[in-house]
Amino acid sequence: MQRVPVETPGRDVSYEIAVGDGVLDGLPAFLEAHHAGRRVAAIGDAEALRHHGDRLRAALPAGAPVLAVPSGEASKTRAEKVRLEDELLSRRLGRDTVLIGFGGGVVTDLGGFVAATYLRGVPFVAVPTTLLAAVDASVGGKTGINTPQGKNLIGAIRQPAAVFADIRFLETLPEPEFLNGVAEALKMAATSDPELFSGMEKGIGALRDRESGALTRLIAAAVRIKAAVVSADERESGLREVLNFGHTIGHGLEHATGYVLAHGAAVAVGMIAESRMACRAGFLDPAAEDRLHSLIGSVGLAVRAPDGLERGPVLAALGSDKKARGGEPRYVVLEDIGRVRARDAQGRTAYSFSLPAEVVDAGLRAIGL
Ligand SMILES: NC(=O)c1ccc[n+]([C@@H]2O[C@H](COP(=O)([O-])OP(=O)(O)OC[C@H]3O[C@@H](n4cnc5c(N)ncnc54)[C@H](O)[C@@H]3O)[C@@H](O)[C@H]2O)c1
Repeated sequence: MQRVPVETPGRDVSYEIAVGDGVLDGLPAFLEAHHAGRRVAAIGDAEALRHHGDRLRAALPAGAPVLAVPSGEASKTRAEKVRLEDELLSRRLGRDTVLIGFGGGVVTDLGGFVAATYLRGVPFVAVPTTLLAAVDASVGGKTGINTPQGKNLIGAIRQPAAVFADIRFLETLPEPEFLNGVAEALKMAATSDPELFSGMEKGIGALRDRESGALTRLIAAAVRIKAAVVSADERESGLREVLNFGHTIGHGLEHATGYVLAHGAAVAVGMIAESRMACRAGFLDPAAEDRLHSLIGSVGLAVRAPDGLERGPVLAALGSDKKARGGEPRYVVLEDIGRVRARDAQGRTAYSFSLPAEVVDAGLRAIGL
């Protein structure tokens, strides 16, 4: 078991992320120590509840309501938030309530947002049940929902009271969902942690077999990186952009495929393209690019754009990306394994850059576009 403390400077908020096999068993003691006498309610992903609902209920006070959320992104809506709020209100759950979010990123985002506004805010405990939620969505305090105009447009930044990342839940995760989390963890290693990257290279078999020790180390290292980036970002604006490595091309691919391509696959292919661009622009050594390419391939992630996809729709999507400035897409530029470019040509702090057309062209060719 590992415990990762998260400090949010300037906001006087700190909490702990417990990572490991069986850590949910620590939930009753946490509630007793920090929220004694409060009522508890859980919001749970229907599929996660189907597999692991008994374990969740065993960790909750007797009789605590568990509200199921239909699985999938389509639940991250205003309508679902209203439904959950009405359910909580009709059960007369007051300000003394602690809300538990049990599921993937959909439920930690939605449940965290419900908790942020319910009776003007009640404590939220995240229990991620997907690898993506464990390494990414449950850290950093971003909560929210989608609207017809776009993803995550309505929400709040609010830190949880605690996170219990119990890797036992990951045993039932379908492989594509598992790979979504691997892609984000790999991105964090590639941009910020050379030791985590070489650990992943050495432990590919254990990772693919979802061995408990390998997963605990991966999640703990990834949440340390995300927590450090997020808290530093509050002081030095922009560092959070580092987390977008692979995502400019990745979002372009997702958009151009009508979001059929899994997010993890899109980010993986995006990292292939963007590392080639960094190489072509003269910032990244080809040997480092090779290491990244071979790790992405050997963990089982995609390395090329889907067959039949044309370059045109991807380029169009790049121009309308929300990180684009004046229609110019911006890219995080890898300088080495574990390090990104952090200065512009004038020496000012910057984490994303526009790149010449021939450099982007080389990146797109590297993924078969
Ligand atoms: N807040 C943030 O900083 C942040 C960061 C990254 C992503 N996100 C958000 O996270 C969401 C994606 O999260 P996700 O990939 O976890 O998706 P998800 O929550 O939709 O879960 C993926 C699938 O796995 C199923 N599932 C969950 N736990 C399971 C288990 N233990 N066993 C078997 N099946 C299980 C779910 O029912 C669902 O079908 C997106 O909405 C994204 O916007 C937020």
